[in-house]
Amino acid sequence: MASLAPDADVLTIGELSERSGVPASALRFYERQGLLRSHRTSGNQRRYPRATLRQVAFIRASQSVGIPLSDIGAVLGFLPDDAEPTQEFWERASACWKDMLNTRIKRLERMRDLFTDCIGCGCLSFDQCALINPGDKLGRHGPGPRRLVNDYAPIADDAG
Ligand code: FES
Repeated sequence: MASLAPDADVLTIGELSERSGVPASALRFYERQGLLRSHRTSGNQRRYPRATLRQVAFIRASQSVGIPLSDIGAVLGFLPDDAEPTQEFWERASACWKDMLNTRIKRLERMRDLFTDCIGCGCLSFDQCALINPGDKLGRHGPGPRRLVNDYAPIADDAG
């Protein structure tokens, strides 16, 4: 890989850290995870294209709503090399993630409601506690190893 002379089109890790407010250690971590790319000087110092600043903003905004780094990296992988996430790119990603967040929020609300039943209970019972055995689907087939008995036939929503 060709080394780059210091110029206005690239940022050192210190400059990127200062401009973004993200610690250099986190920037190096993002790079190890494949979310950011740098070029190396002949002295093996990192140089980031200017577009990296918006990539870092994209990562931080996504992380702030709980998007896993692996998902963020997968989406950033659609960007051409050294391209910055445009406004449209962020709009599309955030719209997609909004649906995922709404699904996660609904699941958490359901778990919170089930958890409320546990407060003050302490039974931790596989038979009674819906958190431990949500829905008890096989329990509707009767006692014992239901999948192993000859008359087992799934009920319509067993898979859900
Ligand atoms: S601990 Fe008893 S219902 Fe969950």
